[in-house]
Amino acid sequence: MKWDDGFAIGIEAIDNQHKKIFEHLLAIENSVTKRDPWHILHFFVTQLAESLKFHLEVEEALLEIIRYPDRIEHGDSHAGLLRQIEELEDQLRNSASGESLVGFFEIWFVRHVLNGDREYAAYIKEEFPALLDRSPAPAGL
Ligand SMILES: [Fe+2]
Ligand SMILES: [Fe+2]
Repeated sequence: MKWDDGFAIGIEAIDNQHKKIFEHLLAIENSVTKRDPWHILHFFVTQLAESLKFHLEVEEALLEIIRYPDRIEHGDSHAGLLRQIEELEDQLRNSASGESLVGFFEIWFVRHVLNGDREYAAYIKEEFPALLDRSPAPAGL
């Protein structure tokens, strides 16, 4: 699956991280299709896991700073994503049917972005529009 602009939540830094995660997912898909040996596939899976962990930490820190009301639930769903990725890694290591597993994880991730992430983005736009204002600070500040 490729990144689609319809997945954007309108916060550039976060959208860029989501895009990066899609790139890693695509690399895994290609690697599975080519039937790369495990050590190569594992490299891509590790990159995905690192990129995802970093992203989830950034998001959780952001939601904490703005005291997002649903931050606990949002964090719980991140924990679910992290469990999924561990499972994905285990199953890719042991199974020949990796493609459908990657697809399954993608659907999970897309659903999270389109639902959970989009909800906090709407909250930020409503409550903290200045966070999204990327115009440069006035000179002298
Ligand atoms: Fe996210
Ligand atoms: Fe999230």
